[in-house]
Amino acid sequence: MGAGDAIGIFDSGVGGLTVLHALAEALPAERLFYLGDAGRHPYGTKSGETVARYSLENAEFLLEKGIKLLVVACNTASAVALDALRERCAVPVVGVIEPGARAAAARTRNQRVGVIGTDATIASGAYTHALRALRPGLEIYTRPCPLLVPLAEEGWVEGPIARGVVETYLGTLRHSGIDTLVLGCTHYPLLKPLIAEVMGEGVVLIDSAEETARDVAAELAARGLGRRDGAGSASFFVTDVPDRFIRIGARFLGTRIDSAVRIDRLA
Ligand code: DGL
Repeated sequence: MGAGDAIGIFDSGVGGLTVLHALAEALPAERLFYLGDAGRHPYGTKSGETVARYSLENAEFLLEKGIKLLVVACNTASAVALDALRERCAVPVVGVIEPGARAAAARTRNQRVGVIGTDATIASGAYTHALRALRPGLEIYTRPCPLLVPLAEEGWVEGPIARGVVETYLGTLRHSGIDTLVLGCTHYPLLKPLIAEVMGEGVVLIDSAEETARDVAAELAARGLGRRDGAGSASFFVTDVPDRFIRIGARFLGTRIDSAVRIDRLA
């Protein structure tokens, strides 16, 4: 394992590209290998057991490529599989939940924090656990928002339908008095302007993608594994025909994806 090796990143599909985008901005000289498990998407509605199995297979695929660090760029996979991944992987593993929780615990002034995510993420209690470990006195309000994933993928991030869905999901949170809301799903940053409008000015939104990139940079620096020279690059692998990944993924990444390699077998 050396500084010249790539960082491996995986997600259930295109969502983790919001994390890859933040990583590329924070660490422009790094080589990034991204695996989108589009063939088995979504993870958010599946059992923890299944998501953990998928996650270990994804990690194995990236480890075989000789990565120096693994980023679990999916909240659902981070919520249910992080411990198993850390146990099995010989490289450092960074998930998206701890960085998001840390940022939320640091930002809240009134000790009331909201968390939104997929069904599996919210059911796992992973954010509540992480937040309580950081600040035991926090009042935590959680809400699964499953419809926001397809809305983000379809590009329905504004207009009356998206607004109606967001207002319905966030209604109770809005009245709970929270001053900080964790966007605990890779897809939600695309809906950030609408969520911000619905929650109002007094509520800080925590984007776990940005927080995770900061953690990865710190982890690499601490281990002397950062790549400083040369141009960075990103290579994409997908467990399905890559057309949809390339088309939809561009919106999540914020730039064009030229090509992606189809992977037929992970394990
Ligand atoms: N990437 C998932 C997450 O952040 C959302 C999409 C899915 O359900 O697979 O939880």
